[in-house]
Amino acid sequence: MKHCIDQTVNFVRRQLANAEAGHDWWHILRVWNNVKYLLTREPADTLVCELAALLHDIADSKFHGGDETLGPRIAGEYLNGIGVDENRVKHVQEIILNMSYKASLGHVTFHSPELAIVQDADRLDAIGAIGIARAFHYGGFKNRELYNPGIPPVTQQNRESYKNSTAPTLNHFHEKLLLLKDKMNTDTARELAASRHAFMEQYLAQFHAEWAGGLPAQ
Ligand code: ADP
Ligand code: NI
Repeated sequence: MKHCIDQTVNFVRRQLANAEAGHDWWHILRVWNNVKYLLTREPADTLVCELAALLHDIADSKFHGGDETLGPRIAGEYLNGIGVDENRVKHVQEIILNMSYKASLGHVTFHSPELAIVQDADRLDAIGAIGIARAFHYGGFKNRELYNPGIPPVTQQNRESYKNSTAPTLNHFHEKLLLLKDKMNTDTARELAASRHAFMEQYLAQFHAEWAGGLPAQ
């Protein structure tokens, strides 16, 4: 198992060599660490969880013309190639296909304790101090405005409107990041999410106070 994980680490590092900083190897490493911690408290198949964490962003559809089958396909070919058993390969592919926030806004038919854990681990990396850094980095990558008081957030989004949004980065906090703490699957992730969520709330309050330049917020 150790050998198989080491090999996968090398594969993923190569695949993500030119990735945008919010979805690069360091994101994968943090998600993998979150998974390892969640596994100390939540029972699940360790190998499936670790492989899915390592492979979940090798071909994110938002960087590949919307193709949502590419990631699971590449992961499947890779895992078959290193001799991982068929059931685990299929399970990892299902996790990658179903774990994204976008996917969760559509009709999800696959559920497993392993998906629950890897999805929580990825969501934890989307909130808190790191979540803030990743959101503004992504907004910069897409050349979005930081904030625009004239463009209100749309909190009830479907899969398409979420995917196609070009709104300012501050809106993303209301459209996704602040909603994540209540979407955690496991108790352990819910506990970890609480302080990260509180930090974002505090950050947003300070942001709006500075935006108003000391005048009362409008
Ligand atoms: P998923 O890839 O799970 O479907 P996202 O598309 O929201 O979910 O991407 C994951 C991360 O990418 C977010 O947590 C955030 O850091 C960044 N991101 C995605 N969309 C935006 C956005 N509109 N504004 C700022 N950051 C974003
Ligand atoms: Ni991710």
